[in-house]
Amino acid sequence: MSNASSAASGVMGQTPASRGLWSSRFAFILAATGSAVGLGNIWKFPYITGENGGGAFVLVYLLCIAAVGLPIMMAEVMIGRRGGHSPVNSMRAITKRGKLSPSWRWLAAVGVLAGFLILSFYSVIGGWALSYVGTTATGQLTGQSADQIGAIFSGLLGSPGKLLLWHTVFMALVMLVVARGLRGGLERAVTILMPALFVLLLIMVGYAMTTGYFGEAVAFLFQPDFSKLTTAGVLVAMGHAFFTLSLGMGIMMAYGSYLPKGISIAKTSMAVSVMDTVVALLAGLAIFPIVFANGLEPGAGPGLIFQTLPLAFGQMPMGNLFGTLFFVLLIFAAWTSGISLLEPLVEWLEEQKGMNRTVSTLAAGIACWLLGIASILSLNLWSDFAPLGMFSMFEGKTVFDLLDFLTANILLPLGGLLVAVFAGWFMSREALEDELALAPASFSMWYRTLRYFTPVAVAVVFIYNLV
Ligand code: PFF
Repeated sequence: MSNASSAASGVMGQTPASRGLWSSRFAFILAATGSAVGLGNIWKFPYITGENGGGAFVLVYLLCIAAVGLPIMMAEVMIGRRGGHSPVNSMRAITKRGKLSPSWRWLAAVGVLAGFLILSFYSVIGGWALSYVGTTATGQLTGQSADQIGAIFSGLLGSPGKLLLWHTVFMALVMLVVARGLRGGLERAVTILMPALFVLLLIMVGYAMTTGYFGEAVAFLFQPDFSKLTTAGVLVAMGHAFFTLSLGMGIMMAYGSYLPKGISIAKTSMAVSVMDTVVALLAGLAIFPIVFANGLEPGAGPGLIFQTLPLAFGQMPMGNLFGTLFFVLLIFAAWTSGISLLEPLVEWLEEQKGMNRTVSTLAAGIACWLLGIASILSLNLWSDFAPLGMFSMFEGKTVFDLLDFLTANILLPLGGLLVAVFAGWFMSREALEDELALAPASFSMWYRTLRYFTPVAVAVVFIYNLV
C-alpha cells in the first residue's frame, strides 16, 4: 500500500483496505485511465464531432484538452494527494489547514451530483453495447445493408422493455464491483482489457482504410472549416473535454489521494490525457470512413457508432468474432468508467450517512437506475416530451438530452472552474510547488494557465452560451 493511501486512512477511521484501494504503484494511471477511457471516447466523441461539422470542432476539442483539461486534471490530482481523503474530506482538510472557508467542500458535492446524473444515462448506453454483443455474436449483422442495420438499432430504441433489461444488467455490473470495493480484479482487468481495446480499434482503423474513404475521413476530422463551428459547438467541445477526462467530479481527486508522493503528477496526468485522446481519435478514424463509404449521415447523433461499426462487422472477414470482441471490450471500458461514476456518491453516503458499503451501493445504484428509466422512455414513449422546452436553450431537448447537457456542459465545467480557482487562487504556492515538484519554468506555465487562462476560458464559453 502506498504512503499516500496509508495516510488517507486517518480521520475517517477507515483503513485503506476498507475503502477498497488499488494495490500497485501504477494504481493511479490504471484507475484514472479506466475512468477516462469509456463511452465518451468511442460513442460520444465521434457523434458530437459528426454533429458539429468535424475538423474545426476537433481542433477546439484538442485545445480544450491541452489548455483546460490537462491543467485541471493536474490540479485535481494534486488536491487529492494533498488532502489524502475522499474528495469532500480532502477539501475539508486543505481548507482547514489553510484557514479557508469550509464552503469549498461544496465543490466536491457538485461532483457527487454530476456523477449520479451521468451514470443514470451512461448506463442506458452501456446497455446498448451489452445488447449488441448478442446481436453480433449471433450473426444478425452479416451481410446486412445500412438500412437493415439502422432498423436493428431503431428496433432496440423503440423497445422500452429491452432497454430496461440491458440498463438493469449494466447497473448491476457496476454495483457489484462498487459494493465489493474497487480491488476485486478490476485492476487486472484494466491492464489487460484497455490494451486489447486499443488493438481492436487499430484493426477497425485498418478495415476502415480498405473502404477507400479513409482520406475523406482524415480530411473531415483534421481539416478545420470554421464556418461549420458554432458557439454552441465550442461549449460542447469544452464540456466533452471534461467528460472524457472524467474531470470536474472529484474522481481524479479521489484517485489522486492514493498516488504515492514520489510520482510525478504532471507526467501521469499527461499520460492519461494522451491515451484518452488517442483512443477518441482512433474511434473517429475507424468510424468516419464507414460513414462516407455507405452514404451515411455524420451528424446522425447518439446512434452513430451503433449504425456504422455493425455495418463493418457485417462485411469484414471474421466480422462476427471481431464485432463481439469489440462490444465486449467497449462494455469493459464503460464498466470501469461507470464504477468511477458511482464511487463518489457511495463514499459520500458511507462517510456522511454512516451507511455500510453494501447498503450505500444499493441505495445509490437503485436511485440511479430509477432515474435511468426516464432516459429510456425519452428514446421512445417520451421522445416528444421536452420538460424545459419553454426555454429556448432547452428547446426540443428530451430528458436524456437534458441530463447530458446539464452534466457535460454545465456541472462538469463548473466543477472544473471551481477546482482551477481553488488551486490557483486559494491554495498556497508552496503547497502547489511541493506537490507538483516541477522545474520552475514548467511550474510557472501550469500556474499561469490555471490562474488566468483556464477560468477565463471556461467562464467566457459559459456566459456566451447563456446569453
Ligand atoms: N470519462 C468517461 C468516458 O469518457 O466515457 C465518462 C466519465 C467517467 C465522466 C467518470 C465523468 C466521470 F467522472
